Amino acid sequence: ATAGVTCVPFSGGQPKGGVDDGPVEMVRFGMLDQLQGMGYAVELSPGMDKYRTMKPASDPAIGVLKNPRYVSLAARRVAEQVREHCAAGRMAVTLGGDHSIAMGTLVGSTAVYGDDLCVVWVDAHADINTPETSESGNLHGCPLAYILGLCEPAAGAGEEEDPFAWVPAGCVRTDRLVYIGLRDVDAAEKTLLRKHGIKAFSMHDVDKHGIGRVVEMALDHVNRDRSLPVHVSFDVDALDPSVAPATGTPVRGGLTFREGHYICEAVAETGCLVALDLVEVNPALGDPESLRQTVAVGCSLVRCSLGERLL
Ligand code: ARG
Ligand code: MN
Ligand code: MN
Ligand code: MN
Repeated sequence: ATAGVTCVPFSGGQPKGGVDDGPVEMVRFGMLDQLQGMGYAVELSPGMDKYRTMKPASDPAIGVLKNPRYVSLAARRVAEQVREHCAAGRMAVTLGGDHSIAMGTLVGSTAVYGDDLCVVWVDAHADINTPETSESGNLHGCPLAYILGLCEPAAGAGEEEDPFAWVPAGCVRTDRLVYIGLRDVDAAEKTLLRKHGIKAFSMHDVDKHGIGRVVEMALDHVNRDRSLPVHVSFDVDALDPSVAPATGTPVRGGLTFREGHYICEAVAETGCLVALDLVEVNPALGDPESLRQTVAVGCSLVRCSLGERLL
């Protein structure tokens, strides 16, 4: 099997520098060698430095949205690189970078798998704000609103007013998305989840049912027969900050080390995984030990997702 790895050194979807160094640190920690050691051939997307140099000289906010043109350009490139990997039958692994890049990964995977694609979004946050509901203006809090088609298209808007006009609104169906790990969801996001009937397992549900049952219920919801392709988008802040401290928006009360890994192992066992994002590792935050711990856990989540077993 071949892993199609896309490194996305990108931080434009949120204000903190350093998350753009996440992919390099994971690679330096041995991510690619580890995948080869598991028997994967690794095909690395070319030109990852482009993600830094494509930053427009001028990128004024559109409404509240910050760096909208830069986020759009980067996500559009991610979409193309992920689409190529999926089209070639490779397991698409994308290392972020902040979570706004998932706009690209999901456009890329759905371009090949269509609306059969199921999405398991593992995160402390729902990342479903629209330009109207976002309080921060940070696009890493918005990717799913664009993907699911919840953003009001500004009437007759071209690329200049709406840099995300290229995102096929609704490329992921609301009934094929499921969340695990939520615990910091904005009021307007809660309204959107309810309005669209989107299935979500919060940390309360993990406490109540245990992670084994939660993953089973989550997969039953999107993929009852375990026959459809699955894309996992794993924000490292889903893990408790004691496990993954080096991330930009940590929220206490998160998944344990084992709960996080269990999700990846259980999805791997279905044999349905076609794409994986591992995002929001920020090596600039915290002491060297926090960094090492977070980078290491990022690598091991990727390995488990790609089939590494304990026995
Ligand atoms: N809901 C907040 C916002 O929209 C936080 C989003 C955090 N997202 C993330 N990918 N870490 O700004
Ligand atoms: Mn998050
Ligand atoms: Mn909040
Ligand atoms: Mn996120």
